[in-house]
Amino acid sequence: MPQRSGSITLPVMGLVLGALTPALADGRDPPTPITQRTIRELAAPVDLRFGTAVDINALANDATYRDTLSRQFSSVTAENVMKWDTLEPQQGAFNYAPADQLIAFASANRMAVRGHVLVWHNQIPSWVNEQAFTPDQLRTILRDHIMETARHFKGKLYQWDVLNEALNEDGTLRDTIWLRNLGEGYIADVFRWAHMADRNVKLFYNDFNLEFFGPKSDAAFAIVKGLVAQGVPIDGVGFQGHLGAQFGFDTRVQENMQRFADLGLEISVTEADVRMPLPTDVFKLQAQSQGYHSLLEPCLLTRACGSFTVWGYSDKYSWVPGVFTGQGAADLFDENFQPKPALAAVQHDLALAAKSRH
Ligand code: XIL
Repeated sequence: MPQRSGSITLPVMGLVLGALTPALADGRDPPTPITQRTIRELAAPVDLRFGTAVDINALANDATYRDTLSRQFSSVTAENVMKWDTLEPQQGAFNYAPADQLIAFASANRMAVRGHVLVWHNQIPSWVNEQAFTPDQLRTILRDHIMETARHFKGKLYQWDVLNEALNEDGTLRDTIWLRNLGEGYIADVFRWAHMADRNVKLFYNDFNLEFFGPKSDAAFAIVKGLVAQGVPIDGVGFQGHLGAQFGFDTRVQENMQRFADLGLEISVTEADVRMPLPTDVFKLQAQSQGYHSLLEPCLLTRACGSFTVWGYSDKYSWVPGVFTGQGAADLFDENFQPKPALAAVQHDLALAAKSRH
């Protein structure tokens, strides 16, 4: 297939995405062959940490997974092994080994580590959920969990998702074990406890659908604005970025990121993926590219956005098919670790941003 000026020939699809791949601002072609430059190489000059969630079993058992991971990414997030049910399956019996293995792998490959997650309503061990603790006991249990965990990982992480998914879509607080027992003051408390345990790591509020302007994003904005005003130690907001090609994408993500940044907060895209109804086809894959672009471009245009993490990078290990029936193919690489059109879109955004900032 002939190579048109300013376009990328995708190795798998044999497609030419002219519309997504305009020539660089100075009129020259983008670096060629763009698909052979890794994401981490392309992200370094724009000071962006580009990460992925890591499946610990794939890391242990799949050499291709491991090699692609260390070549392509400069940051990792534990997909599951820093969650409470993994870290403390029985009260007082700690299981740090899988998370520590991930940290060792990251350090051997010069990758940074994002912490995920201290407080959430899912993946809480049954000993917490299924006993009749008093509110005071639960408060102590949560504080101890946060402080133990933050202390264990002290100095190893650059950001922590302290609080995850505390909001409903309509902007009200989610009814969780924490809200019910501790009251809404728990939100400020969990950040204070994390800060007491580790004063250097950046503390984040993290949620999905924040990238869409609406009641949920407005509520998150109001809450973190209140926390900042009260001097609560919060450093950033994570836009998870779980999108679907069938739903369309928001065009005001940059404006949304900027209002949080204007509070003095950092922004991270923490869990990006763009699922689609299966089977895939070239048209859906093109829409998926636009989905990734709809998150990455605003991040690159927002000075406060310093890291961008995808929630898994190969369709072979994506969480999507197990949770969203009939959907999948959400990641940048397919099940055989071959690049998809979305990878080229990501590479192209990074290459253009490098031209724009430097
Ligand atoms: C998901 C993992 O990917 C799955 O393996 C696990 O079974 C459930 O949790 N938002 C989050 C992540 O903050 O922790 C979730 O991860 C995906 C949605």
